[in-house]
Amino acid sequence: MTTAAQAAVTYRTVGTAARAQAVTKRYGQGETAVTALDQVDVDIERGRFTAIMGPSGSGKSTLMHCLAGLDSVSSGKIWIYGRDGVASELTSMKDKQLTNLRRDRIGFIFQAFNLLPTLNAVENITLPMDIAGRKPNKAWLDRVIGTVGLADRLKHRPSELSGGQQQRVAVARALAGQPEIIFGDEPTGNLDSRSGAEVLGFLRRSVDELGQTFVMVTHDPSAAAYADRVLFLADGRIVDDMTAPSADKVLDRMRQFDLHGHNPGPSSYGHDARGGDAAAQR
Ligand SMILES: Nc1ncnc2c1ncn2[C@@H]1O[C@H](COP(=O)(O)OP(=O)(O)OP(=O)(O)O)[C@@H](O)[C@H]1O
Ligand SMILES: [Mg+2]
Repeated sequence: MTTAAQAAVTYRTVGTAARAQAVTKRYGQGETAVTALDQVDVDIERGRFTAIMGPSGSGKSTLMHCLAGLDSVSSGKIWIYGRDGVASELTSMKDKQLTNLRRDRIGFIFQAFNLLPTLNAVENITLPMDIAGRKPNKAWLDRVIGTVGLADRLKHRPSELSGGQQQRVAVARALAGQPEIIFGDEPTGNLDSRSGAEVLGFLRRSVDELGQTFVMVTHDPSAAAYADRVLFLADGRIVDDMTAPSADKVLDRMRQFDLHGHNPGPSSYGHDARGGDAAAQR
């Protein structure tokens, strides 16, 4: 018998999982308007772990929220690609369609764990599937719970769990429904280094062993080192694109941003990603 967990391994693990094309996001009007994203083009690869880094205010969360359909764009297009390779354009969807797509195909892990206080751990983990009327795959669920080390905490409510345990519940919740892509905005930002390493190790394995696609915003070079690729943002543009990152390489790159978070010049790491040329011309 093939379980869904085993079947997941046979999913398409190459190609594009999400794409942004000429995405601009402005907040506010007139003199107080802020351009959070400025003509961003990016492809997120399927079955890969992509980290997004950059100074505070560079547009990391905005990019992630736009890719995940949590925020609208001012101009440009966003697509999410199914495991079958079929593209869905988020930026042309009606609210209801978008809500369904987020619910069924996208997983989220936030810095604040966003667990429901009245539900215990396992109820929190299965909540999105319960809402969607989907039955969790038992073998997969057990594996997720076992790997995040929560088997003996399933009946505990969030208030009875440590921060690290709560975040592991949130990670298990994101993975439980086997979404096509998982987005995390500083998912280890509130964790001590040991809990953070456990969570990142688990996310890494879900990419390697199950073909999960994971996109993570982080400030932490050692967290980014778990990724296959690191995109660097500055002033709402992608200014660098690093593969096979190490904590040292990432730290070096971050040091090249000036005190105000701007990108002073071309990088020493290969080519500037799309957007870099335009940034240099300004
Ligand atoms: N709802 C909003 N209204 C107005 N401006 C916003 C809003 N959200 C973000 N911004 C602005 O857009 C820019 C990008 O913000 P964003 O939250 O994407 O940055 P970030 O890279 O995630 O920063 P941090 O590392 O501090 O989380 C910032 O200048 C921010 O002030
Ligand atoms: Mg942010």
